[in-house]
Amino acid sequence: MSEKLYIQTFGCQMNEYDADKMGDMLDASHGMNRVESPEEADVLLMNTCSIREKAQEKVYSLLGRWKKLKQSRPDLIIGVGGCVASQEGENIRRRAPCVDIVFGPQTLHRLPQMLDQVRKQGRPVLDISFPEIEKFDALPKPRAEGPTAFVSIMEGCSKYCSFCIVPFTRGEEISRNLDDVMTEIHSLVSLGVREITLLGQNVNGYRGLMDDGETADLALLLHHVAAVEEIGRIRFTTSHPMEVNDALIEAFAEIPKLANHFHLPVQAGSNSILAAMKRNYTVEDYIETVRRLRMARPDLSLSSDFIVGFPGETDEDFEQTMELVNETGFDTSFSFVYSRRPGTPASALPDDVAEEIKKRRLTILQSRLAQSAREISQAMVGTTQKVLVERPSRKDISAMAGRTSNNRMVNFSGRSDLIGKFIDVIIEEALPNSLRGKLSDTSSATES
Ligand code: SAH
Ligand code: F3S
Repeated sequence: MSEKLYIQTFGCQMNEYDADKMGDMLDASHGMNRVESPEEADVLLMNTCSIREKAQEKVYSLLGRWKKLKQSRPDLIIGVGGCVASQEGENIRRRAPCVDIVFGPQTLHRLPQMLDQVRKQGRPVLDISFPEIEKFDALPKPRAEGPTAFVSIMEGCSKYCSFCIVPFTRGEEISRNLDDVMTEIHSLVSLGVREITLLGQNVNGYRGLMDDGETADLALLLHHVAAVEEIGRIRFTTSHPMEVNDALIEAFAEIPKLANHFHLPVQAGSNSILAAMKRNYTVEDYIETVRRLRMARPDLSLSSDFIVGFPGETDEDFEQTMELVNETGFDTSFSFVYSRRPGTPASALPDDVAEEIKKRRLTILQSRLAQSAREISQAMVGTTQKVLVERPSRKDISAMAGRTSNNRMVNFSGRSDLIGKFIDVIIEEALPNSLRGKLSDTSSATES
């Protein structure tokens, strides 16, 4: 009987992508099947996130539960990967001796060997090195579940924002070659994929080597992906405002397949806070970038990330963030209370904004952001939207679900043979987290 694998993943889309790759690897090497609960599994893997303290705490509380499973089944193998593993290394085993394997975001492709090693030698293994981009070469052929897929185009981050742990846990920015990315996209297309999301911590910092020795930026890569006939829509995330170049702005005018959505984290609306965060742009620069993007794509949906309560943030600084939010009309965005991360430059600053002030600011910001997203959803009611049908709806078995270009989930009555097709849907109702619509009579569903 084949062995069973359970993977618990936390954090960003990069981690989701990595978790799928871990599953693919162990399926190819050991014929393992992924299961839905840890109780059924022979191998338990945790793909961790260390972006904020809360995310990190989850690791040890879950390990506490897994330890109990191992007590009753000593053959159980427990592996911890991702950013906490990368940051904590040996400490993981010191705090949780039940762990057999500690691996980092860039050594997950070595899991099959690490697993064999643990079993053969009967002692734990640790490998959290950064062996350049070897990971992608070692991964099995991609698999696809449905018509959308992620493709990682770069690893790591070299921006070193003063609050952020990512450059330390995932290493410096390193881009995959353009040809490698395109090969992965072509194999996904042959599996029925019609929408690609290019992934990386800073995809617009992409500098991929091409066959002729020149380097491609993100805009050039987008043109290459758009030239693949079967691909109907392209997304990318996440981007840094400092690296939005002219070519990327023009891409929004030139590439209709590029989704009408841009996630461009601003973090704060005060120039002194932005400087202390080492973001390398001013609010004015950001506003100018947005203005130019909207010239290229007038109805562009723009979303962002925000941090409140960064060291030294005054009421006035926060007011400036709110002004930016009021002026820009952001779509569904993310906002967080500042969390001090050991080892980052900002961790040397006094974490001086009182907890209750941080929380109050977060509530104010989040309710304003939610209102703004609601207004955008409301304005879509009555319009016809192009939707890529992804799967049956989770709420209603007779309905199908798919996303609009501006990244909203829409549920509508329809047949399952629409999956994988771009169709026209008339939006009838805006709900808090999704839209409800009906198939347009004119929807030809010809595009596949
Ligand atoms: N480019 C990356 C950014 C990673 S972190 C990406 O989006 O994949 C995602 C967001 O987490 C950041 O944009 C920032 O808003 C938030 N964040 C990062 N470090 C943080 C910290 N120390 N405290 C609170 N929020 C943080
Ligand atoms: Fe983190 Fe800044 Fe990079 S938020 S991921 S260091 S762009």
